[in-house]
Amino acid sequence: MNGLDRGFANYGDVAFSRFLRRSFLHASGRSPESLERPVIGIATSPSDFNPCHRAQPELVTSVERGILAAGGLPMAFPTISLGESFLTPTSMVFRNLMAMDVEEMVRAQPMDAVVLVGGCDKTVPAQLMGAFSAGRPAIQLVTGPMSTGRYHGERLGACTDCRRFWGRYRAGEVDDDEIAEVEQNLATTAGTCAVMGTASTMACIVEALGMALPGSATAPAVHADRLRVGEATGAAAVEIARAGRTPDQVVTPASLRNALRVLLAIGGSTNALVHLTAVAGRLGMRVDPDELNTLSDTTPVLVELKPTGDHYMEDLHASGGLAAVLHELRDLLDLSAPTVTGKTLGEVLGDGPRWVDRAVVRPLADPARPVGGLVWLRGSLAPQAR
Ligand code: FES
Repeated sequence: MNGLDRGFANYGDVAFSRFLRRSFLHASGRSPESLERPVIGIATSPSDFNPCHRAQPELVTSVERGILAAGGLPMAFPTISLGESFLTPTSMVFRNLMAMDVEEMVRAQPMDAVVLVGGCDKTVPAQLMGAFSAGRPAIQLVTGPMSTGRYHGERLGACTDCRRFWGRYRAGEVDDDEIAEVEQNLATTAGTCAVMGTASTMACIVEALGMALPGSATAPAVHADRLRVGEATGAAAVEIARAGRTPDQVVTPASLRNALRVLLAIGGSTNALVHLTAVAGRLGMRVDPDELNTLSDTTPVLVELKPTGDHYMEDLHASGGLAAVLHELRDLLDLSAPTVTGKTLGEVLGDGPRWVDRAVVRPLADPARPVGGLVWLRGSLAPQAR
């Protein structure tokens, strides 16, 4: 029995329903044997209005390779796509709509596990919210950050540099021709914003939560590592399906606390806290403002990425990725927290990366800032930067 046998109520007769589904799936040219495998849904979110997800088709192919090699049956399906810069009045209005789309499609379609493929700001929270409510075994795969562009010898990455150059243009320091040239070099590859904005923050948080494979947060969208992560995620999804490992077995109060520590240590986006609150809520957990403030007072900022530092996500990847940060934070984390791999965070961390660029990931003893950059002031509806 596999996912194809789920949810037969519509047809009354289980045997007939199974026969019907398999008959229609034969139209896709799949072998009868493949229909006996664990069914792994792949929730995709490509759109011409979402260049951050431009590389998804190739990434999804890598996931399918991993699923097939591990003995599963990949079944990709679309959901809505939220391109941050293209939605009016704001993409936030549509986050919960995407969460509903993901939840209902994961619940309604016959799958044993789902790989959630997305990256642009509201996508990862929406996919996690939906999958958590659906309650099926799930694993997140982010699309990965953009690589940087160049303008007159200077590295550029959306979108901290967008605001900086636009400010200079408004001040008359950059002319029309120059701003047109900058415009063509701010976002030069597929992938999510190159700085520690909401998308990068959520990518790091989802790895810290244990819902994505170790080492998966930072690989650039166009780097071969991203495809290797895709293949490994596909294979992991088959194992998760066989184990029946649902999100409530992975995300615990301990992993939520770890994610908050990481949010603070990476100098992450305030938006991520709003999303993490919603994501945790789907599993009946609450982000406590007082606890956040306590963690903020005891978690130094270690990562020197824009907008607070000078580097980009591709630099963090080359510096050991999130593992370098987690390893530095070891003594502040709950290493017994579970992960989607079935191992604890301590087990997947191991000895940490062999080399770390200290200009990008600072040691705990010599942090970029001694305390976290976020606090939740009493009475305010959202966290504040400090
Ligand atoms: Fe998609 Fe920034 S616009 S991540």
